[in-house]
Amino acid sequence: MKKRVFSGIQPTGNTHIGNYIGATSRWAAEQDIYDNIFCVVDLHAITERQDPKELKANTREVTGLLLAAGIDPKKSILFVQSHVHEHSELAWILNCYIPMGWLGRMTQYKEKSGKQKEQVSAGLFDYPALMAADILLYDTNVVPVGEDQKQHVELARDVAQRFNNFYGEVFTIPEPKIADVGARIMGLDDPNKKMSKSEEGPNHAIALLDPPDVIRKKIMRATTDSQTTVVFDEKRPGIYNLLTIYQIFTEKEKKQIEAEFAGKGYGDFKKALAEVVIEGLRPLQERYHKIMNEPGYLDSVLAEGAAKAHPLAQKTLAKVHKAVGLG
Ligand code: TYM
Repeated sequence: MKKRVFSGIQPTGNTHIGNYIGATSRWAAEQDIYDNIFCVVDLHAITERQDPKELKANTREVTGLLLAAGIDPKKSILFVQSHVHEHSELAWILNCYIPMGWLGRMTQYKEKSGKQKEQVSAGLFDYPALMAADILLYDTNVVPVGEDQKQHVELARDVAQRFNNFYGEVFTIPEPKIADVGARIMGLDDPNKKMSKSEEGPNHAIALLDPPDVIRKKIMRATTDSQTTVVFDEKRPGIYNLLTIYQIFTEKEKKQIEAEFAGKGYGDFKKALAEVVIEGLRPLQERYHKIMNEPGYLDSVLAEGAAKAHPLAQKTLAKVHKAVGLG
């Protein structure tokens, strides 16, 4: 029996190469090893204000990008979170088993609430309970995510263990799976900050749908330092981040890359990196536009995905109801 993978992505627009490198390209690459479920988590997106029309459009865009990245609906279940109501129901129940202190310690909450101040919703605080519900509904073994989501997956594991201690073996205990390289791609304009969809600087992130000239411009303007050698040195976060992106897109060894740029400067390296990223994203962008022009295709994939996910979720929720004594 293959292990079950579950992972999710928010439809908040501007999906970027960090999402692709840290998560979605790996989901696609490992589809044959696992039994996969991938979810577009629109209920998570509304923990921050969204324009309704944009949310709908972004849900379609992210679905299209996942398909274009190689998620194959014949191999993987792909669906939208709000289409399977058990996610919200289990989140409520798990709420009642998660101490407030656990939620208050989440670094994502601390960062986001620090920025939003009095606008912070209870939903933002409770975000990890919904994420735990996503994972635990499907007897998930492995959760492939970027480094920033590791703490949330660990909370899901902790609440599963806590619940099982009360009621017996109801939930499967999940494990996060983080890539060795590229689990935390940094912003191009500030290599000390994680590349993020919500950062507003025009040169912060490379979006998966950016045209070639925009990619070139962003990379040429990326922040580096006053040194000149093109080597992997973690103490030089700007060039290190760019080299990591180069390494991922070329699948070359670090040594090989350093040799390639020995005696050359940052300018030459950035030009080469831009072309590698442009060529790396070209097939994905072509597939994306083809998929979006196929009438009815996305809707049929998502309807089929929800129809497959729903009975699995129903089964787990029924087990939970029975354990707790609900209904
Ligand atoms: P989201 O939508 O912010 O990001 C989707 C995936 O991309 C990864 N990621 C990155 N990886 C490397 N470098 C970066 N700069 C970078 N930025 C983002 C994220 O770690 C993530 O894997 N809470 C999740 C969505 C979610 C989920 C789940 C994930 C909801 N339910 C259940 C796993 C299991 C999120 O907001 O991801």
